[in-house]
Amino acid sequence: MKGIVLAGGLGTRLHPLTKITNKHLLPVYNRPMIHWPLLSLVEAGVRDIMIVTGGSFAGSFLQLLGNGREFGLKDLHYTYQEGEGGIAAALSLAEHFVDGDPCVVMLGDNIVEHSIAPYVRDFGRQEGGARIVLREVPDPERFGVPEFDEEGRIRRIIEKPSSPPSRYAVTGIYMYDAWVWEVVKTLKPSGRGELEITDVNNAYIERGLLQHSVMEGWWTDAGTFNSLLRASNRVAEREHERPFDQFLGESAATR
Ligand code: DAU
Repeated sequence: MKGIVLAGGLGTRLHPLTKITNKHLLPVYNRPMIHWPLLSLVEAGVRDIMIVTGGSFAGSFLQLLGNGREFGLKDLHYTYQEGEGGIAAALSLAEHFVDGDPCVVMLGDNIVEHSIAPYVRDFGRQEGGARIVLREVPDPERFGVPEFDEEGRIRRIIEKPSSPPSRYAVTGIYMYDAWVWEVVKTLKPSGRGELEITDVNNAYIERGLLQHSVMEGWWTDAGTFNSLLRASNRVAEREHERPFDQFLGESAATR
């Protein structure tokens, strides 16, 4: 299983903070934002990881993460996204790295309370296709939102709907088989001029190949001032109770 952290984009919603650094390098409590999704992937057993970044501060990622030794990795892979073509455009840059394997994609501004290992395991057990992770939220209009049919299957996903068809958000944790690379090549830019990950997921739905998990525990993005503050507060609470990176020490002790 390959892992990809998407940390491109310009982070304009966080100006002026992102005038002098990349959004994913801003602090979320005691670590730079990108550490959290990276820790989630490593904790789930993913060892082969690519970071997609962009903008003027891409060199800082290398300085910060190096070969990922701090995370128990042998090396880390990097690629560069020109401009801000959207999440699916950033993902398409990882095609050669993934090389036909199944992959787990995590948005660089998404932070979760608990392990993502159960979702990755369930995806490993399904026969190809894709898996997304949903979370009930009070403000679904900020996200991709699933519409369900009578049997509780996802009929379609609507990106930032003004009247959300459910109370669930599609979180930024996506799992795909190799068909994803064909899908991204067929995408057209949306109204906001981006290649949308929601269109990728809808293509899987149309073929009956999308499964989903529902997350318990908190989940947040950190791409706006409010969500960045919320992310820091939640991480701080959790870290006081149970440091999430404890497993790095534990696995080093058993190696
Ligand atoms: O957080 C979950 C939500 O993320 C989903 O519910 C939505 O369906 C999905 O479209 C996305 O919505 P946002 O509008 O919040 O995405 P945003 O533009 O903030 O980008 C999120 C991350 O994706 C960002 O931290 C880095 C990566 N990204 C984004 C863009 C636009 C890239 O790597 N390259 C890009 O060009």
